[in-house]
Amino acid sequence: MKTITRKEFIEQVGIGAAVLFVAACAGSCKKTSNAGSGPTNVNFTVNVSTGALATNGGYLIQSGVIVARTTSGSFVAVSATCTHQGGTLGFSSSNTFQCPLHGATFDTSGAVISGPATTNLQKYNTALSGNSLHVYS
Ligand code: FES
Repeated sequence: MKTITRKEFIEQVGIGAAVLFVAACAGSCKKTSNAGSGPTNVNFTVNVSTGALATNGGYLIQSGVIVARTTSGSFVAVSATCTHQGGTLGFSSSNTFQCPLHGATFDTSGAVISGPATTNLQKYNTALSGNSLHVYS
């Protein structure tokens, strides 16, 4: 059996640890690439005369979609799942969708404003008829 010096041991263990870290990170540390993915076949209606959507700046999440009423009163809908690592988004008074996990922000069209997310959110159509808001793919 060969004896090794402390320096040799540290060098070998250090290289091994670095290899393990790189191997582990290759699978889990990369950014997710669910480019624009989100719920498909979205088709639901919400009443905007009551609840969160009755006031400007309000929002709700239904069927994996976050529906928000902007501060100017228009309606927008995007995937409620952050494209970074799947955090559930909220909507802020600055008219942005925000992720509570790592702070990514998206504009009302779903485009990334700031990371770590690099992929835009899937956007959905909205159509208002009276107090009924249709949200659809
Ligand atoms: S999961 Fe949203 S910023 Fe990381």
